[in-house]
Amino acid sequence: MAGIDYASKIPNNVDLAGNRRLQRALEDWQPKFLAWWHDMGPDGFQAKETYLRTATSVDAQGWAQFGYTKMPDYRWGIFLAEPEPGRLVNFGDDKGQPAWQDIPGEHRATLRRLIVTQGDTEPASVEQQRHLGATCPSLYDLRNLFQVNVEEGRHLWAMVYLLQAHFGRDGREEAEQLLQRRSGDRDKPRILGAFNERTPDWLAYFMFCYFTDRDGKYQLASLAESAFDPLARTCRFMLTEEAHHMFIGETGVGRVVQRACEIMREHKTDDVRRHGGIDLPTLQRYLNFHYSVSLDLFGSEISTNAANFYTAGLKGRFEETKKADDHQLKSATYAVISRDGERIVTREAPALPSLNERLRDDYIADCDRGVQRWNQVIRKHGIDAELTLPHRGFHRAIGAFSDVRVSPDGRVVGQSEWDARKGEWLPTPEDLAYVASVMTPVVEPGQFASWIAPPARGINGQPADFEYARPRS
Ligand SMILES: [Fe+2]
Ligand SMILES: [Fe+2]
Repeated sequence: MAGIDYASKIPNNVDLAGNRRLQRALEDWQPKFLAWWHDMGPDGFQAKETYLRTATSVDAQGWAQFGYTKMPDYRWGIFLAEPEPGRLVNFGDDKGQPAWQDIPGEHRATLRRLIVTQGDTEPASVEQQRHLGATCPSLYDLRNLFQVNVEEGRHLWAMVYLLQAHFGRDGREEAEQLLQRRSGDRDKPRILGAFNERTPDWLAYFMFCYFTDRDGKYQLASLAESAFDPLARTCRFMLTEEAHHMFIGETGVGRVVQRACEIMREHKTDDVRRHGGIDLPTLQRYLNFHYSVSLDLFGSEISTNAANFYTAGLKGRFEETKKADDHQLKSATYAVISRDGERIVTREAPALPSLNERLRDDYIADCDRGVQRWNQVIRKHGIDAELTLPHRGFHRAIGAFSDVRVSPDGRVVGQSEWDARKGEWLPTPEDLAYVASVMTPVVEPGQFASWIAPPARGINGQPADFEYARPRS
């Protein structure tokens, strides 16, 4: 198992020292990245110490080491999962051939677009979250936010490595542009819609980690199947970091649910806000919003691009190699939920152009598992309520449902019903103002804001009242 070379300027396990041209290109990019981090990374915390983990090797046991670090000193680097000897292309037209170590000329433009689109989401989320440190509900949560932020920064490094190593001058230009676009900027926005939305408060942040970052997990998992082996190995290592981001989202929302339930039981009231909590209907509206904008990230239900990516071997299905079929899908079909005028219908469509929808289905099933765990918390408190995922057609901007209004329970509704009930279904200005009003920073070790329960356990075996960050030092 290769350890990581921390002696060089850019920590890596890709033998950067053996490729001078690439090393120079990345060393040229490094100060630009740091300048971006300085301008767009966590606002006001650049000189503060945080208890962060850093990768020390890429195997399951040895890859995480914890210690206090100032974020700009975090060792961002290039880590690929170990190569699988004799790996083959596992799907598409080239199935059975050796996996590619270099990009076939005919796939260059497409792969470049896929890598840039994935890469763009990484710095975007750091930008979206840069103001959150000022209103952290605890040192534990502050530390987790910053851990996610530095790792999203590292994911940018991962994609920039691929661009610089395999795309020559075009790759260098793309690497520059990844540092120039800005989340929410009118003139140079980030590429995907959900990554230009604001993350105005910590509830939105937890929902983002749960729903939007989970899209990232599914995109990475399908790129981890790619015939282009360096991309597959990069994504496999990124997925190990991503798991922690999902955890922060699930436990974050779960702790807000728990606090709401504690207040409801203790005070025998539904008026959770009166006691400084965030009520379940508000949680449901936030959930509806973040889930629906995240569903859009999977693209149209029927997509020739998706079919082409698969046939070419660029992007597989979630857990491609575990599936027991021919991995070419030329004559297979897939059940796609779509629309026939005002009716929502399921129809069998050719499997290849339905691959976006299949990935979205895997994602939806995964999302639902966490929602059921949140509902267990509600039930445990003896409260008769539940959170649910809205219908996939609700509040969509891309695909078959983008030009109709669909209620959370899956009815096509008219504009007048939508206008009348929108405030029940999506966060209202009052919700946002209320949630903003409880976002007061809590920076005493072991203390938590009124709207969130402490975590079940701390990070790396430390207690919940450990000094996870030193924002005042
Ligand atoms: Fe990421
Ligand atoms: Fe992430």
